[in-house]
Amino acid sequence: MLAELDKIHKGALAAAAQVIDQAGLEEWRSQYLGKNAVLTQSLKQLGGLSAEERPQAGQKINQVKQALEAAFEERKAALQADKLQQALDTERLDVTLPGRAMPLGRLHPITQTLRRINAIFAEMGFQVYRSRDVETDEYNFLLLNFPPNHPAREMQDSFYVEGGSADNPLLMRTHTSAGQIHAMREFSAESPENPPPVRIVLPGMCYRYEQVSARSEVQFTQVEGLAVGEDITFGDLKGTLTDFARRFFNADVRTRFRASHFPFTEPSAEMDVECFVCGGKGCSVCKHSGWLEILGSGMVHPNVLRNGGYDPERYSGFAFGMGPERLTMLRYRIEDIRYFWRNDLRFLEQF
Ligand code: DAH
Repeated sequence: MLAELDKIHKGALAAAAQVIDQAGLEEWRSQYLGKNAVLTQSLKQLGGLSAEERPQAGQKINQVKQALEAAFEERKAALQADKLQQALDTERLDVTLPGRAMPLGRLHPITQTLRRINAIFAEMGFQVYRSRDVETDEYNFLLLNFPPNHPAREMQDSFYVEGGSADNPLLMRTHTSAGQIHAMREFSAESPENPPPVRIVLPGMCYRYEQVSARSEVQFTQVEGLAVGEDITFGDLKGTLTDFARRFFNADVRTRFRASHFPFTEPSAEMDVECFVCGGKGCSVCKHSGWLEILGSGMVHPNVLRNGGYDPERYSGFAFGMGPERLTMLRYRIEDIRYFWRNDLRFLEQF
């Protein structure tokens, strides 16, 4: 029987060496180690052996079984290694292929415009001053020289919110001009006798209870500007804003100032730039006038200076306000303001 077992052992090893794949190896296992394998069957023959032969034969069967199990594992590892090598040989890894691009977000077109405006004024020495979105009637209107029931209030239909008092209600700011008073008071509080000059821009969201249309939205951004100090003249206003237009549009854009009215400035003016679509000849964008209105401005009204803590006998200043949506619409010839706050990626991804 021992000789028989040696023969099984040798035969099995020889067969294992012939196996070329995983399926073949499984077949080999059931043939040599399975329930009906000769080796398993030989266990049953142990009973027929003599008492001396039996332990020896039993031991031998176990040895062969272990040897075959080891051979199985070895062959399995070898087959796997072969397979890997084959894959490495045949499947080429092209390290020159471009990587997969990560989808990148981007800044909203209005944020881009706001940042450009801020950057241009920063170059001219203006600081960015942030102010609140929820305002009191006092800051949004009264201190800016809009007395109660003044008709100019009517141009700024407003969203009132809970929390104010009957004579000083709270509202969502209708313009960034409210920040002028906050800023001046903050500056002048530091040195009431000798308040420091102010040179700031105030960017931010504004809110009006408007009929939504292609030209007006209930929320929009503004950039306000304010310069207060000694000897500030209308010439400074014109020079600063014309320089802004040159930096924002192009170096030789022409500008013009038209008399206007705002309660918080005196005198007041609107600034137009020559239409950059038609070069001033007249087209549908400039409504055939050759000019595009881009901002309101003026010399700070003495009452407003006083409300901010600056003595109008000694200090003067200029202010302006512009709408980044309008500037962006003109620049890219966007025809409907409602696109900006709709979150439609087909629109936003163009910027
Ligand atoms: N606050 C004005 C508005 O929302 C815009 C404006 C005009 C601001 C003239 C100014 C200014 O500071 O001087 O219509």
